[in-house]
Amino acid sequence: MITIYPSLMAADQLNLESEIRILKNYCAGFHLDVMDNHYVPTITWGAATVNAIAQIAVVWVHVMIDNPMVFYEQLVLKPDSIVSFHIESEINFFDSIKIIKEKKHKLSIAISPKTPISRIVPFLNIVDQVLLMSVEPGFSGQPFLISAVDRISEVVAYRQEYQWSFRIGVDGGINKNNIAMLVEKGMDDCAVGSGIFSNEDPVAALQELKILTQ
Ligand code: DX5
Ligand code: ZN
Repeated sequence: MITIYPSLMAADQLNLESEIRILKNYCAGFHLDVMDNHYVPTITWGAATVNAIAQIAVVWVHVMIDNPMVFYEQLVLKPDSIVSFHIESEINFFDSIKIIKEKKHKLSIAISPKTPISRIVPFLNIVDQVLLMSVEPGFSGQPFLISAVDRISEVVAYRQEYQWSFRIGVDGGINKNNIAMLVEKGMDDCAVGSGIFSNEDPVAALQELKILTQ
């Protein structure tokens, strides 16, 4: 099943709670981009806000900050929450996996558009999800980078060859014009920001995207 996670960075920040309460009946959970104005050039929420949202909804936390494990240790998330860490950040996946699995969270390895896929190959047998960025991390509303399409195929090929079971996530610039093609290429999970929240009726936009993935 294809899972669409509305990316709350693009939501109306003054009405975050009501957006969540309305949309949660139509989706499996929400994508939360955590940014520190250092690892990426903007800033979003800290652990207190993420934990508060995690009380009322399932979350997929996308960590784009320095010292990611220091931040992770402050999170209180339900089992099966997904947490994405960037291969380009200073994290030792082999050391961190035990801590993440103890908390029963799903480990996702995120990779930025310009980083070769070969960088993540050593970790593909331990992760629950690969997150392919289809924009440079940092902002919502950027155009989809078409290079992500071949990168999905590359990861699908590794998964098939070695019979690995991770899911393939894609994040950035996904909308009604490209979502069906991405599913066809092998995308399992996606984060959608402006493709949902730039619409006057986010529920209708999400429902339309869901239909396109079937
Ligand atoms: C970008 C973030 C994305 C962003 C997606 O760095 O990781 O999750 O919110 O927003 P759209 O779908 O508008 O590109
Ligand atoms: Zn994201």
